[in-house]
Amino acid sequence: MPRQFPATRLRRPRGQDWSRRLVSETNLTVNDLIWPLFICEGSDSEQPVASMPGVSRLSIDLAVKAAREAASLGIPCIALFPSTPTDKRSERGDEALNRDNLINRALAEIKAAVPDIGLLADVALDPYTSHGQDGIVEDNIILNDETVGVLIQQAVVQAESGADIIAPSDMMDGRISAIRAELDKAGYQNVQIMAYAAKYASGFYGPFRDAVGSGGVLKGDKRTYQMNPANRLEALREVELDIAEGADSVMIKPGMPYLDILRDVKAAFSMPTFAYQVSGEYAMLTAASDNGWLDRNSVVDEALLSFKRAGADGILTYFALEVAKRL
Ligand code: PBG
Repeated sequence: MPRQFPATRLRRPRGQDWSRRLVSETNLTVNDLIWPLFICEGSDSEQPVASMPGVSRLSIDLAVKAAREAASLGIPCIALFPSTPTDKRSERGDEALNRDNLINRALAEIKAAVPDIGLLADVALDPYTSHGQDGIVEDNIILNDETVGVLIQQAVVQAESGADIIAPSDMMDGRISAIRAELDKAGYQNVQIMAYAAKYASGFYGPFRDAVGSGGVLKGDKRTYQMNPANRLEALREVELDIAEGADSVMIKPGMPYLDILRDVKAAFSMPTFAYQVSGEYAMLTAASDNGWLDRNSVVDEALLSFKRAGADGILTYFALEVAKRL
């Protein structure tokens, strides 16, 4: 039975800061943050990403320092993405399986130097293919099962190098169970899988592709494997399959344009559920605040809180470090 005005005044608990904090339904803490980092070759090298002001590709030595700082602020986990030089890219993306490739060296060195921070590694071929697609291409078709056959090896090599969470971002069918089986076979029963379970074919990934160097080379789009932004029910089927195949946690991506999906997934499956506030979302908020059109801190906090309110257990965000410093 709803009480009525004037007995009920919803403004009453909003009157003071202490009271607003006391009745807050959702809170953002440092434990909610996963910080994505771009890695480049070289040493003491920091290359700004033009479309993501404030974000740079870091050489491994600088990434170790960044990981140390993140750990000291209490950020639980970082995600590493390699910017692979063009001469190491190939039609089938063989560099993905090189034990000494950039990402694997980064995983090993960060694990050794900062053992207490979680390390998440993407599984997909786009950092390594000359065409920028996430899988093996034949006659313009992205082959599913052949690609999965390579991804399972990529996952094992990353686990060997120190990855704590394998995050398949490729959207091939059946890759979660195949990766789980291969990790187990290789003795990595305790390495987690965070499935990019509902990943949409989105225009918001543009700056990321600049950052890892796959934007310029990408031929075509990814609509035969990433999801159609028009679909909601299909996302539930994607997530259900990944859970059935052994995902420890699931991710929805991009973030803010897909809060409805996040909400539905959390409600339907009660799984650890993550949102990826992607590069284009970072670029929008940064561009507008750099122009003085938005107040950076307030819109960043509001956006991150919206993920928590919608049901996220955590957020992959390029703002993680600055937010952790503020919290
Ligand atoms: C690669 C991958 C992408 C992102 C994460 N992993 C790009 C893509 O699928 O094209 C996007 C992240 C971002 O935009 O911040 N499979």
